[in-house]
Amino acid sequence: MAKRALITGIRGQDGAYLAKLLLEKGYEVIGGDRRSADADYWRLRYLGIEKEVRLVYIDLLEFNNIYRVIEKYKPDEVYNLAAQSFVQVSFEQPILTSEVNALGVLRVLEVIRQVNPGIKFYQASTSELFGKAKEIPQNEETPFYPRSPYGVSKLFGYWITRNYREAYEMFAVNGILFNHESPLRGLEFVTRKITWGLARIKYGLQDKLVLGNLEAKRDWGYAPDYMEAVWLMLQAEEPDDYVVATGEAHSVREFVEQAAQVCGFKLYWEGEGLEEKGIDAKTGKVIVEISSEYFRPAEVDFLLGDARKIREKLGWKPKTSFSKLVEIMMEEDLKRVASERRA
Ligand code: NAP
Ligand code: GDD
Repeated sequence: MAKRALITGIRGQDGAYLAKLLLEKGYEVIGGDRRSADADYWRLRYLGIEKEVRLVYIDLLEFNNIYRVIEKYKPDEVYNLAAQSFVQVSFEQPILTSEVNALGVLRVLEVIRQVNPGIKFYQASTSELFGKAKEIPQNEETPFYPRSPYGVSKLFGYWITRNYREAYEMFAVNGILFNHESPLRGLEFVTRKITWGLARIKYGLQDKLVLGNLEAKRDWGYAPDYMEAVWLMLQAEEPDDYVVATGEAHSVREFVEQAAQVCGFKLYWEGEGLEEKGIDAKTGKVIVEISSEYFRPAEVDFLLGDARKIREKLGWKPKTSFSKLVEIMMEEDLKRVASERRA
């Protein structure tokens, strides 16, 4: 019989790629979506799986709702991807962020414990746990030092998952995933903001790209590669926590430079701090500016992951390089903007 998986956060980037992967593996996929007025399943549509996923309403804020869904659909595996996932907004909405990202995880775990503790559980943990990182690179043993309400809320999610594993012998695991991007990334995150913004500048629909801290460094991977790792964790013999990363870090500035190059701009920088500007040498136009609006009250300066454990124990390694990732995202956004212009 086909395995059945429940994915919370089905409308997000990872929800879409994970659903596609599980469908390809023969799973029946139940997609948990919190209701919203303008529900649009554009990511599922983009991957051609909108009709193959069975959609159900599930909101991590409501225990009874989660209970009914899990009791009714009896999944073999639950992938908890739902979250208020934007770090910047967590400074504006710290309580909502914690309700969803911290207590939300506990609600799902508690339902599983009550309905059927044999259900396998995946928690979407994050490299934001390392925050002001205590060592470079970061692995499963590196101490945590979160730097945002988002990071702190995810710390609870991480520990409650471990606690349910240890206390009730549940198959509950944390994937500590470093940043992973794709053409399905939300426009608020810096990589997609850059590729979408540059494509629009190229086609004359926008003048400038306004960014914050260009010096922040991230270990950026490709989301579909990372969903393979997520699935593998639930197929392991024993439940355990794993770091998922590429082992290479790049700055926001480098991301802009590479994307601009793919886009056909010849970018150079002038000025410093908030006055710094990115100029296209071909036209002399300013295409990148800096604004304090996009700086965070507390920043995570540098993340670099060590994914040796998952490579050695589960045989996972990333397949997509940083330059390939930038190219995939930039080319897809150029195509999208070109067709938007034609429409
Ligand atoms: P995403 O695109 O923001 O997707 C998150 C999804 O969660 C959205 O579809 C959102 O629904 C849903 N959601 C928000 N609040 C909810 C609630 N109260 N109840 C039910 N659903 C709710 O995030 P992602 O990039 O796919 O990331 C997936 C997970 O991995 C998140 O938990 C994130 O924190 C974590 N993570 C991501 C990365 C990364 O680099 N992408 C790295 C490490 C960890 P709407 O569509 O209605 O807003
Ligand atoms: N969003 C955004 N917008 N970030 C900017 C901008 C901007 O205009 N300018 C500079 N940055 C910097 C941020 O300050 C941060 O240091 C870096 O770019 C990355 O920001 P995001 O793309 O918003 O991602 P994040 O690293 O904060 O969080 C993402 O990755 C985490 C894993 O480390 C999210 O996906 C989280 O949900 C995830 O847990």
